[in-house]
Amino acid sequence: MREAGCVFAEDEAELLLSAARTPAELTAMVERRACGHPLEHVVGWAEFCGLRIAVEPGVFVPRRRTEFLVRRAASTRPDAGVVVDLCCGSGAVGAALAAALPGTGVELYASDVEPVAVRCARRNLPRGARVLEGDLFEPLPGGLRGRVDILAANVPYVPTEEVGLLPAEARVHEPLVALDGGTDGLDVLRRVTAKAGGWLAPGGILLFETSEHQAPDALAAVADGGLVPGADRCDERYATVVVGTKPAG
Ligand SMILES: C[S@@+](CC[C@H](N)C(=O)[O-])C[C@H]1O[C@@H](n2cnc3c(N)ncnc32)[C@H](O)[C@@H]1O
Repeated sequence: MREAGCVFAEDEAELLLSAARTPAELTAMVERRACGHPLEHVVGWAEFCGLRIAVEPGVFVPRRRTEFLVRRAASTRPDAGVVVDLCCGSGAVGAALAAALPGTGVELYASDVEPVAVRCARRNLPRGARVLEGDLFEPLPGGLRGRVDILAANVPYVPTEEVGLLPAEARVHEPLVALDGGTDGLDVLRRVTAKAGGWLAPGGILLFETSEHQAPDALAAVADGGLVPGADRCDERYATVVVGTKPAG
């Protein structure tokens, strides 16, 4: 595996050894990893906020830096009763929020445009959560309007021209729709910020990640959508999270 370019070859080999149920399965896993498939796709899961999240081939691998967004959401609105994970991918964010929020009564919705992501999120989200397929807010039930306390929207935000610079694991093995955010990376985000205010409850929050240099434009988009913008940075995780709060009055 080292010869194939795996940087943490020993650790990865140990993980594959523990994940494979038969020698034949181990051989197949090593071959896939050596060909460049993401480790998480090979073993079928990723660790996220202490949870084991199922990740199927063709589904965006949840990044550890996104744990910061989950922590920020849960600490800002521990009282949240209605949570939406928009652009949910594997559903890692929704699953982690459901686990982090105290009490058992969270009404949880998730949606994604990719059928394979929707299927994967259904495996990861707790019983009672509704996972819907479609473009952004379009599949959500109309009765949710004005009721959402936490709207997590980890949308694609890589500028189109930079997609080609991503590591092959992402560029080749994750769908383009999960990465490409348009010319400046904020196209999908602007569609979210334009509509988020209509779905949030008073005091509700929209959260998403950006790169550090996108943050000023992302904050402006939040303000244009009628939300009060703020940003937080976690240096340890190299994560920038923008938060838009719907005014209470
Ligand atoms: C960066 S990934 C994030 C996935 C997940 N939230 C996470 O943090 O692991 C972006 C996700 O947005 C989805 N997506 C892209 N455009 C979308 C759209 N117009 N409507 C719904 N989902 C979309 C992709 O399929 C992908 O699963």
